Amino acid sequence: MRAVGVVPGEREVRIIEHAAPRIAASNEIKVRSLEVGICGTDREICTFVYGSPPDGFNYLVLGHESLGQVVEVGSGVSQFKPGDLVVPSVRRPCPHDHCLSCRDDKQDFCFTGDFTERGIKMTHGFMTEYYVDEEKYLTYVPPELREVAVLVEPLTVAEKGLAQMWQVQQRLPWIDPKLSAEHRGRGKTAVVLGAGPIGILGAMALVVRGFKTYVYSRSPRPNAKSELVESFGVKYISSETVAPDQLLEQVGNIDLVYEAVGKAKISYDVLRVLGLNGVFIFTGIPAPRPPIGIDADIIMRNLVLKNQAVVGTVNADADAFAGAIRDLGIFLKRWPDALKSIITGRHRIDDYRELLLGKANGIKNVIAMA
Ligand code: BGC
Ligand code: ZN
Repeated sequence: MRAVGVVPGEREVRIIEHAAPRIAASNEIKVRSLEVGICGTDREICTFVYGSPPDGFNYLVLGHESLGQVVEVGSGVSQFKPGDLVVPSVRRPCPHDHCLSCRDDKQDFCFTGDFTERGIKMTHGFMTEYYVDEEKYLTYVPPELREVAVLVEPLTVAEKGLAQMWQVQQRLPWIDPKLSAEHRGRGKTAVVLGAGPIGILGAMALVVRGFKTYVYSRSPRPNAKSELVESFGVKYISSETVAPDQLLEQVGNIDLVYEAVGKAKISYDVLRVLGLNGVFIFTGIPAPRPPIGIDADIIMRNLVLKNQAVVGTVNADADAFAGAIRDLGIFLKRWPDALKSIITGRHRIDDYRELLLGKANGIKNVIAMA
């Protein structure tokens, strides 16, 4: 089979002839790759500062944002049948008995660090024709989501982040008890940092929950991304023309910051203006750079005097995948054009070089495998 892989030992990214996988256990499912999204993590793996091949291989098959179709199921599989559309999760548990998280199917909270991640860390990914996975790592995708379901994995980042946020904020009467569960965010102000796929999808999820939502991103408006987010009820503010203090003046008390920019400087500059009882969710993974100056005293004073919480969140559990499927259905009904326009282009596998090593462009680029 053809696959896109990195060969760290040779500092190469290339098409690899990869052995076709077979079902080896009754709970396994064979899936045909339909579409694979490309993200900053993939591009970083292609600079060889991140990611690692499985034991016994000199290459890693890339790809962790997948939409696939079931072609064959093991004898013990009960939830899926050939023809079903599926999305796989990314992380696989560590082997240690004492890891309570991994033993409880919560490998996104692995305690040992010996987890693997498909297409990232020591397990091959989905940028190939077929893959096999266990039933419990797949989520069913309704056929009406075919066109947008490659966005499920990036949306799970927001889903898990928001789930963390609700849990953390149970520490105080944050939610007005008169509000229904779907609109729990009413009356609250959220600032999303970054207008990439994770930021835009996160902003959609916040609007759906009733938050007054702002996207704070670099490029001056109007631009394609500002127009996109404004089309679903979000105000876009450019960090080039509006400094964090002015942002605060414009939006009032910031209850939530959802960071999806992956850059430390702007993130800490905005952490400085987080509001009373506010929560700051970090999802970005910046490449290491030289130290930067931040207003550490002000940030620390605020954290204490304003009861703030800062939470990092990686990866996602099965609930986040189910939530992402639900939310995508809602987004597709409410904002079909905006949602579809997050997918900048669908490309052939032969375009992998430009997509992974060339200049990043648009929002979400996808390789159509089949
Ligand atoms: C993926 C996560 C993964 C993280 C770190 C992200 O791009 O979406 O699932 O945990 O990279 O490897
Ligand atoms: Zn990713």
